[in-house]
Amino acid sequence: MTVLVTGRTGTLGRALVPLLDDPRVLSRRAGPGRVVGDLRTGAGLDDAVAGASVIVHCATAPRGDSAATGRLVEAARRAGTPHLVYISIVGIDRIPLPYYREKVNAERLVSGSGLPWTILRATQFHDLLATLFATTARAGVLPVLAGTAFQPIAVDDVAARLAALAAGPPQGWTPPMGGPEVRPMGDLARTWAGTTGRRRPVVPLRLPGAIARGYRSGAHVAPGHADGVVTFEQFLASRAAVRS
Ligand SMILES: NC(=O)c1ccc[n+]([C@@H]2O[C@H](COP(=O)([O-])OP(=O)(O)OC[C@H]3O[C@@H](n4cnc5c(N)ncnc54)[C@H](OP(=O)(O)O)[C@@H]3O)[C@@H](O)[C@H]2O)c1
Repeated sequence: MTVLVTGRTGTLGRALVPLLDDPRVLSRRAGPGRVVGDLRTGAGLDDAVAGASVIVHCATAPRGDSAATGRLVEAARRAGTPHLVYISIVGIDRIPLPYYREKVNAERLVSGSGLPWTILRATQFHDLLATLFATTARAGVLPVLAGTAFQPIAVDDVAARLAALAAGPPQGWTPPMGGPEVRPMGDLARTWAGTTGRRRPVVPLRLPGAIARGYRSGAHVAPGHADGVVTFEQFLASRAAVRS
């Protein structure tokens, strides 16, 4: 079984690849075991998918994920009938972020490809919230969305689920996957500040608009699927241990 992974150098891809048996990887940058290709231009995709029985699509960009996924799907169809495994995000059809609209389209391309497929939606990664807090803390305060909870998950937990899905039969829509705890964003911000030593006042902001309303409504959490095991505290502690 040949497994192709896109997005191998990303946050999720780095956790996934060690769980797979000698996967082929697509990257824009050359390196050992990599097939060089670009989802934005289509270059190298036919070589990357040739002979693949499973394609785990983790690549993403701030813009253009729909077109990129379309190019991958077309290349996969030219190559045969590989099982497409796509990682998506909980609630993207209920929160009108432009990035999420792209992902909804990408999901449609995968599910309508005529190829065997599996889509897993996960909640926000711990890394995303940590990066967000680190960026906003530079302003001297920690702004958070008032009345909004998150259910962050470790990429290792998501990677383990994806690896199992890649090894199994196509599932179509598979149950979503959330982190172990649903917690107010302010609570997560205080945890981040306490753990990293960058103490800042947490400032709740009630933002107008459909996007903030979508997050307040909890469209992006999956409390019935709190399958991840690594808490935000454990994630921050293990990251600090690696850095020290
Ligand atoms: N972040 C979250 O909280 C979260 C939550 C749930 C689901 N997800 C989903 O999980 C997936 C992975 O997210 P991530 O945070 O790991 O992403 P990431 O760290 O931003 O990594 C993006 C990856 O995409 C690759 N890539 C970007 N443009 C490319 C192109 N034109 N051609 C080929 N490869 C390209 C990059 O590879 P090279 O630069 O090496 O080419 C990189 O490996 C995404 O689909 C995301 O929507 C994310």
